[in-house]
Amino acid sequence: MEILMSFCYSRCALVRRLLVGSLAITLSGASCLAQSPQNWEGDTTEARFVDNLLQKMTLEEKLGQMSQIPLNQKEDVSPDERILKGQVGSFLFITDAKEINRLQHLAVEKGRLHIPLIFGFDVIHGFRTIYPVPLALAASWDPAQAEEAQRMAAKEASAVGINWTFAPMVDIARDPRWGRIMEGAGEDPYLGSQMAAAQIRGFQGDKIGSPEHILACVKHFAGYGAAVGGRDYDSSSISDEELWNIYLPPFEAAVRAGSGSLMSAYMDLNGVPATGNRFLLHDVLREKWKFDGFVVSDWESVKSLTTHGFASGPQDAAVRAVNAGVDMEMTSHVFRDELAAAVKQGLVQQSTIDEAVRRILTAKYRLGLFTSPYVASSRAETELVTPEQRQSARKAAERSAVLLRNEGRLLPLSKSLTSIAVIGPLADSQADITGSWSLATHPADAVTVFEGIRKRFPSGTTINWAKGVEIERVQPSIFDPQYPSPKPVLKTDAERDAEFAHAIDLIKQSQVAVLVLGEAQTMSGERASRSTLTLPGRQQQLLEAAVATGKPIVLVLLNGRPLDITWASEHVPAILDAWYPGTEGGNAVADLLFGDANPGGKLPVSWPRSVGQVPIFYARTLTQIPNALDTRYWDGSSAPLYPFGYGLSYTTFKMDDLKTESISVKAGSKLAVSIELQNTGGAAGDQVVQLYTHQRSGTASRPTRELKAFRRVSLKPGEKQTVTFALDTNDLGFWSPQTHRWSIEPGPFDLWVGADSSATQHTTFTVLP
Ligand code: BGC
Repeated sequence: MEILMSFCYSRCALVRRLLVGSLAITLSGASCLAQSPQNWEGDTTEARFVDNLLQKMTLEEKLGQMSQIPLNQKEDVSPDERILKGQVGSFLFITDAKEINRLQHLAVEKGRLHIPLIFGFDVIHGFRTIYPVPLALAASWDPAQAEEAQRMAAKEASAVGINWTFAPMVDIARDPRWGRIMEGAGEDPYLGSQMAAAQIRGFQGDKIGSPEHILACVKHFAGYGAAVGGRDYDSSSISDEELWNIYLPPFEAAVRAGSGSLMSAYMDLNGVPATGNRFLLHDVLREKWKFDGFVVSDWESVKSLTTHGFASGPQDAAVRAVNAGVDMEMTSHVFRDELAAAVKQGLVQQSTIDEAVRRILTAKYRLGLFTSPYVASSRAETELVTPEQRQSARKAAERSAVLLRNEGRLLPLSKSLTSIAVIGPLADSQADITGSWSLATHPADAVTVFEGIRKRFPSGTTINWAKGVEIERVQPSIFDPQYPSPKPVLKTDAERDAEFAHAIDLIKQSQVAVLVLGEAQTMSGERASRSTLTLPGRQQQLLEAAVATGKPIVLVLLNGRPLDITWASEHVPAILDAWYPGTEGGNAVADLLFGDANPGGKLPVSWPRSVGQVPIFYARTLTQIPNALDTRYWDGSSAPLYPFGYGLSYTTFKMDDLKTESISVKAGSKLAVSIELQNTGGAAGDQVVQLYTHQRSGTASRPTRELKAFRRVSLKPGEKQTVTFALDTNDLGFWSPQTHRWSIEPGPFDLWVGADSSATQHTTFTVLP
């Protein structure tokens, strides 16, 4: 328990403490900003520079570079002293520009070798301005949108001196019980790979060291999303076939896109902890993919190799991690404490240490930290939550929302309504709308759905607001004693009933009601697995009572995972999934509800009917009685409620005339595929044209459908466009469990193009050897 307590902490509470602590410290020497550490002579080409420096370093200094510590970690030696002694190479969670400059000043001016520090932070979906969560960005089906959001996030984070983000998370997740499904791009390796590469470009720019950009860290390598039972941190058992074809491709895409670092995962993969897994960190990452960035462990995951019952003690943990391929240890300090002796005993080669340090120094060099280690403090004063950031976050939120239902075209709502009820525990919660990784934001910056709607109407319009119900935590957090999280709201039954009745009364008095329901901020994310997918608390009852009033009801979901809305899908006329849309979420939702923006997002996950269906994903294989794929359960459908790729619009689209340029294509070449898309409705809108294939036979049975291309297209009413894809046959290759290698297998393929994974426009083609 004690180990657990220090290892897994209440992230929000801890970080908030750290941030508050950091604000109290001021920059001691104002002159340090003016000084640049021109202590470097000689050759400045990357490799020679780094080698030169490496030769001057003691073993202790090298191990220092391999150590990352969080601010305010309770230790006998202060962080300042560690810096001066060369015992630390990186800090995480410091977000105060002055403090970053002060620490950097110690390192580059007072440290023996003047080596700059690298400052890391979880810039997952924004820094101070919060963008939609990554699952929502994936729902935009627009890699350019994801790139732009991360570019803006990097810009803001770099304004306070952060050099490095622990993102993107590219873990494929097919089990929405796992809370971290919210941090990734969902279930599909192709969509996941596109989003992974886009986010790397967004964070890093054209190259590592681009101004106003930061170093990316693709994580968590690998297989974290397959935690058994969807329970965070639990082991993953993944077949080779799934590992190569489903879980690894987004990592490979991120590496190919130039990710400067990578984080090893917490859990066991097929019995071997990922942080001590040489197959992953060396054979795949270094040998096969030629990754030349550095590897950081997850939080204390080096020391935890003992917790796993893998390493026999701290030294063994350090030895196994470094020999497996971990270059920097996050927060635990067994590298620093144990590796010097291990090198002397011959358990670790000196060259292994040198290689790790070389990679870390190279990243610092590429970031330009040796020549420009400081951040201009004026940036932090002028570049946070700017109108430009807000505008960008609003657009990202609009493009990420998914319209799940719109019976009788209830949406968009009329702008001349005179009374609207905005109801629900999330309707006016500034914290909840930002979602999980919003550690550096100020909740007061966020616009809630209630506020977004209220601002649109003149004072004469009645906007009624009530919570109706609370979302109360059922399972107490074991971390509460150390890092108290907000106390559950404990109300009497009578108070609860009165609140509920008040909300229903307001609905009765209004022309229309918008119910904002879903999950509280802390219910999705790390350590936030759920054993049910239902609307938590009494939200379902509230929804049913609202519908029973007979008033038109719009359900807006704030959520980090698909929820069980099977009842709502039959009884609530309009359902808009806004995910956790971020700082500008309320404005974006209001734009969407009143038709100033048209929903164009699509589901990046199959949406289950109930928790009993999970894991559920569209790329299943055909097996016995294939025409009964949807009736596998005795007591319900085995089809999802909404298929992968699904999402409605306020307009309608038609797709026809699917063509391939020829009926066959040589393996390794491209095949042109086209379809006619027309906006047949009355509003401008976006459609995501999706292309799926199926290999009919081969050395392994292949999924019924696999996404191989997509494009989000905007069309005016009546407008037509020929959408053409250059289908790359390299994307048809797969790792075969029979041949144990990756190849494109010649033979016939099916091809579908449409608006989701149940697309019906069909043709065939043959891949020739
Ligand atoms: C998470 C990582 C995160 C790290 C630092 C860990 O608990 O698994 O995703 O980057 O903490 O905050």
